[in-house]
Amino acid sequence: MTMQDKINELLSLREKARLGGGQDRIEKQHAKGKYSARERILMFLDEGSFEEFDMFVQHRCQNFGLEKEKYLSDGVVTGYGTVNGRLVYVFSQDFTVFGGSLSETFALKICKVMDQAMKVGAPVIGFNDSGGARIQEGVNSLAGYAEIFQRNILASGVIPQISAIFGPCAGGAVYSPALTDFIMMTKNTSYMFVTGPKVVKTVTNEDVTTEDLGGASVHSKKSGVASFAVENEEEGIALLRELISYIPSNNMELPPFVPTNDPINRLEDSLNAIIPDNPNMPYDVKDVINGIVDDGKFLEIQPLYAPNLVIGFARFNGMSVGIVANQPKYLAGVLDINASRKGARFVRFCDAFNIPIVTLVDVPGFLPGTGQEYGGIILHGAKLLYAYGECTVPKVTVILRKNYGGAYCVMSSKHLRGDINYAWPTAEIAVMGGSGAAEILYGSQMKKIENPEERAEFLNEKVEDYRQKFSNPYVAAQYGYIDDVIEPRNTRFRVIRALESLKNKRLENPAKKHDNLPL
Ligand code: HXC
Repeated sequence: MTMQDKINELLSLREKARLGGGQDRIEKQHAKGKYSARERILMFLDEGSFEEFDMFVQHRCQNFGLEKEKYLSDGVVTGYGTVNGRLVYVFSQDFTVFGGSLSETFALKICKVMDQAMKVGAPVIGFNDSGGARIQEGVNSLAGYAEIFQRNILASGVIPQISAIFGPCAGGAVYSPALTDFIMMTKNTSYMFVTGPKVVKTVTNEDVTTEDLGGASVHSKKSGVASFAVENEEEGIALLRELISYIPSNNMELPPFVPTNDPINRLEDSLNAIIPDNPNMPYDVKDVINGIVDDGKFLEIQPLYAPNLVIGFARFNGMSVGIVANQPKYLAGVLDINASRKGARFVRFCDAFNIPIVTLVDVPGFLPGTGQEYGGIILHGAKLLYAYGECTVPKVTVILRKNYGGAYCVMSSKHLRGDINYAWPTAEIAVMGGSGAAEILYGSQMKKIENPEERAEFLNEKVEDYRQKFSNPYVAAQYGYIDDVIEPRNTRFRVIRALESLKNKRLENPAKKHDNLPL
């Protein structure tokens, strides 16, 4: 063989590997509205940046005739490339090869990119589209999953890990995405569940469709498993690239700085009129967020799950921040189990990756009721409290309106090492709302008033007294629990100044093996 023959052989092997399970199966993917594993990677990475690993890997299975059926790459495309010039590692499960099912060698390929990403401190993005464990491989496949899980765990908090679910993801296979930081699902073409509809029917006698059991809508609204639900893969890939722009490549770096032309001292006059005169009227906290962040750009995470708490990424004068905001428009912005879990996980992500947290507070308290108590709001609420209290990144808080009870302590208060805490003049900071407080404090006196009209008048008076005393930010300000009362339209400028002042913040928690947050 001449040298040219050998080069031609290489080129033809590569060509073959690029086809995965073959053109027919690629067409089938397309017919389902899905891209192939390789197409996804090429769309996701900067053009021409993909460097592939392990194209020549093949499975080693000798069972059920598999020894006669082999494909170059063995069902997963892996390697590295760049997103907006920044290094990332990728793997993309190839449904055209044995339904994207995971073999021993398939797992080894994924482990290789994870190990490499850990060595150099770069994110790992995985595209999932798989029928789960490769049935013919038995325990070798399970071992492969467990090897990946172990790496997900060790990489957690060191490098960002993101899972895009663009097809099936079932059985124990769901636990690798579950161990990563963000999960994205495509509507109608992806699903995730621990056991599928057939097993569900056998065990619980429930009839349920794949979509209703584990589709994007279920996981983005009900379970909270998915951080994002997107209409299609193009939208998903654009969103993945945007998400990465807010986060650093590893826990030793700061998030990327993205310059803006949005003036730091831009006054947002609309904010001076956003809080309704009636304290029971809602408004949309996203209007506040959009009004103060750079260019009104906010990447919301889990927008449909626990919408009473809004979380997401934005920038202030080019600095990436995580925003946590109570949403008065939904359940009056109350903290419940789901909102607490959602907020806690996000705060911990930001803390792990050096992303400052800006908290906007308008919270009437924790949601009362047996549903919440039986569900363990005590432990779940404690997660958010714990997350804020343990976190050491810069924390800037603005109290917009209500800040009552335990929720006062939780929402990045000064006492949980909030660095700079501001309040709008509309802030109400107290143990509870006026009517609840008056009923408790004056209940026995009220019982003695027989005339109902007089009783109501007495109560109104006491409510008004309580409101006069506490429905303002100045009592908290007297004690230094807030650092200043600021004009709403000036919030952007004040937050940017605060963040700038905290750039060199250094704070260490006591050394320990690890914490024991209430799970
Ligand atoms: C081997 C598999 C496979 C698997 C699919 N294929 N899943 N091969 N192991 N797990 C093959 C099919 O034989 C078929 O091969 C090709 O992939 C495409 O599959 P189809 O069934 O034709 O596709 P579709 O109709 O789209 O259905 C997709 C599917 C279905 C819903 C994913 O294939 C399916 O139910 N697969 C089995 C899922 C499963 O039970 N997996 C094990 C879960 S337990 P040909 O040659 O015809 O193209 C598990 C444990 C993990 O994963 C534990 C981790 C700790």
